[in-house]
Amino acid sequence: MFKALVLDKVDGKTVSAIQELEESALPEGDVLVEVSYSSLNYKDGLAVTGKGPIINKFPAIPGIDLVGRVISSEDDRFQPGMHVILTGWGVGERHWGGMSERARLKGDWLVPLPAGMSEKDAMLIGTAGLTAMLCVLALEEGGVRPDDGEVLVTGAAGGVGSVAVALLAKHGYRVTAATGRESESDYLHRLGATHIRSREEMSAPSKPLEKQLWSGVIDTVGSKVLARALAETSYGGTVAACGLAGGPELETSVMPFILRNVRLQGVDSVVCPTARREQAWQRLQSDLDLALLGDVGQEITLEQVPEYAQKIIRGEVRGRTLIKVGE
Ligand SMILES: NC(=O)c1ccc[n+]([C@@H]2O[C@H](COP(=O)([O-])OP(=O)(O)OC[C@H]3O[C@@H](n4cnc5c(N)ncnc54)[C@H](OP(=O)(O)O)[C@@H]3O)[C@@H](O)[C@H]2O)c1
Repeated sequence: MFKALVLDKVDGKTVSAIQELEESALPEGDVLVEVSYSSLNYKDGLAVTGKGPIINKFPAIPGIDLVGRVISSEDDRFQPGMHVILTGWGVGERHWGGMSERARLKGDWLVPLPAGMSEKDAMLIGTAGLTAMLCVLALEEGGVRPDDGEVLVTGAAGGVGSVAVALLAKHGYRVTAATGRESESDYLHRLGATHIRSREEMSAPSKPLEKQLWSGVIDTVGSKVLARALAETSYGGTVAACGLAGGPELETSVMPFILRNVRLQGVDSVVCPTARREQAWQRLQSDLDLALLGDVGQEITLEQVPEYAQKIIRGEVRGRTLIKVGE
């Protein structure tokens, strides 16, 4: 028997409860993992509160990422005792996820824990940190260099935003952190932000072209904030768009693209190819100041997940939230 947070639908509402399950209840897969940690991402918040259509088959176990130890495996690449990371691939959505002491998964979805990285660090990074790294790679591939000028990160006090600020600052970029929480200014400066910009200012309606301010942008918010970020991006700049915390719509014009050569690069972490994931995890291992993660993260239990799911949807969670699952 093992313990898991189970979601069900009752009278059209998503409800959650900690349950004891048998291993035979787990979905099909070729690697059985003893989960140590999962983490709380915005998408998990949508799933647990039922505020977004993340899960369509109930009962279900949420948790879009996890780290743990292989118990048994029919995949030659993974032997018992190996430590593995899982992010994305529809786990915690279509396939039972990480908020469970056991997970049965496909070997194709797993990445070995990088040497020198602890399980705890891996989940403090989690899907959000991986996505932040993929965004940084997108800026680098767009040719954005530290001496090109200021880089903007939106939703900066959130999970993706916090890790993005820390990664960019470590690489010598000057970072403006856009946040709706003035109270998090000190925290963002500690992560390496040089300037703070208010969400209010970023959400104000923008003209097709505004004053050129950013050599690059990592946007986790979408909607009006992304429209303004595009209008304020300097000639030849790159905008990496990965999120929709402010809404999925985007009303903009072609002007930044055809007059300023701006590149809008989408970033996906869910079905991102394995080689790209491994590259990103290696870069996280070598580039991220892991000491900062203590500041970025907080640890909760499975029992606290419903409370924190509400908070992340309300935009009240700072940085990363680690979920301790196993002993
Ligand atoms: N593409 C992918 O593969 C991928 C992977 C991971 C996450 N994501 C997406 O990226 C986004 C961030 O994820 P996360 O896990 O970092 O979530 P998070 O921790 O909740 O951070 C989101 C941040 O966005 C800001 N925000 C919230 N509501 C807002 C609003 N109405 N208007 C403007 N800003 C708002 C807040 O930052 P401030 O308090 O600093 O303003 C909040 O902390 C989500 O939309 C998520 O779905 C995408």
